[in-house]
Amino acid sequence: MRTYRIAAIPADGIGPEVIDAGSEVLSVLAQRSGDVRFDVTSFDWGSDYYKKNGIMMPEDGLEQLKPFDAIYFGAVGAPDVPDHITLWGLRLPICQGFDQYANVRPTKIIPGVTSPLRGVDVGDLDWVIVRENSEGEYSGHGGRAHKGMPEEVGTEVSIFTRVGVTRIMRYAFQLAQSRPRKLLTVVTKSNAQRFGMVMWDEIAAEVAQEFPDVTWDKMLVDAMTVRMVKNPQSLDTIVATNLHADILSDLAGALAGSLGVAPTANIDPERRYPSMFEPIHGSAFDITGKGIANPVATFWTASQMLDHLGEPDASARLMRAVEKVCSEGILTPDVGGTATTREVTDAVCEAIRGDNT
Ligand code: IPM
Ligand code: MG
Repeated sequence: MRTYRIAAIPADGIGPEVIDAGSEVLSVLAQRSGDVRFDVTSFDWGSDYYKKNGIMMPEDGLEQLKPFDAIYFGAVGAPDVPDHITLWGLRLPICQGFDQYANVRPTKIIPGVTSPLRGVDVGDLDWVIVRENSEGEYSGHGGRAHKGMPEEVGTEVSIFTRVGVTRIMRYAFQLAQSRPRKLLTVVTKSNAQRFGMVMWDEIAAEVAQEFPDVTWDKMLVDAMTVRMVKNPQSLDTIVATNLHADILSDLAGALAGSLGVAPTANIDPERRYPSMFEPIHGSAFDITGKGIANPVATFWTASQMLDHLGEPDASARLMRAVEKVCSEGILTPDVGGTATTREVTDAVCEAIRGDNT
């Protein structure tokens, strides 16, 4: 029996609803396979914890998480707590503290989900965005001076290091190499940003030498948005800075039909620390408690988690079940259906039980 210890942090908004659904699916997968166990421990950190304790997680939060094999994260953000507090109090300290420098965001059109792009269907859009997740525009460097005065100054400094750029570039080339098309697009803004971005371009060319079988090209981020919309078939693996990839991945999610299905993995490729898996969608307060949150992103990210843990069969089984259920039209309202979170979850559990592959 292989046992994996999973730390669940459901946190805010619809986070608890989708993480409950995901944990249920994990236990059905374990029953189905018979030789894996997921030992899920839940942590009550997040905005409610903040309102009681003045901090989003305990001081020794990272120490508590360290022994786990992976972290399964819901969403952070509350209407009555400033976003920069929730973000810098929980999610970013975990990503940065555990050096989860590769943020991996697969996007494809799931059968049954419709892209807003005319004539674009399943198979036409199948991308993985690799987002640099440890530095760049999210380095937390900057400050404010002369607050509230007419001469007030605010700076927000992007930090790019040779080590940081080289390792994400290598990760992206390796990922591109592992996919059938072996195709990588490196996104920067090196026309306007003359220093860090030009260094990105140079390092991309250096790392490319190590991967002669990968075809790669360069795009400026503004032109990239046009290419994603007009020629989605021309893209496969994409690598970009923390902020550029943040923006491009929202666009990607929308083009694939809904942010409700988009997953993300925050990976420490060197496996020194647990990696963290989460849906992209965020806390979605407008639908919290209504039972209609789309659990598909949380299932998909569980499949990324299973791959990372070395359980590719369970991962593939889960994605087959998700695709079957979506293609049968059992969909939540954000993707044009009328099903509830419960109904989608039950259907996915049923599909896993009935999968004889
Ligand atoms: C994402 C989100 C976050 C980010 C927000 C919630 C701060 O948009 O994961 O893409 O910018 O990293
Ligand atoms: Mg984002």
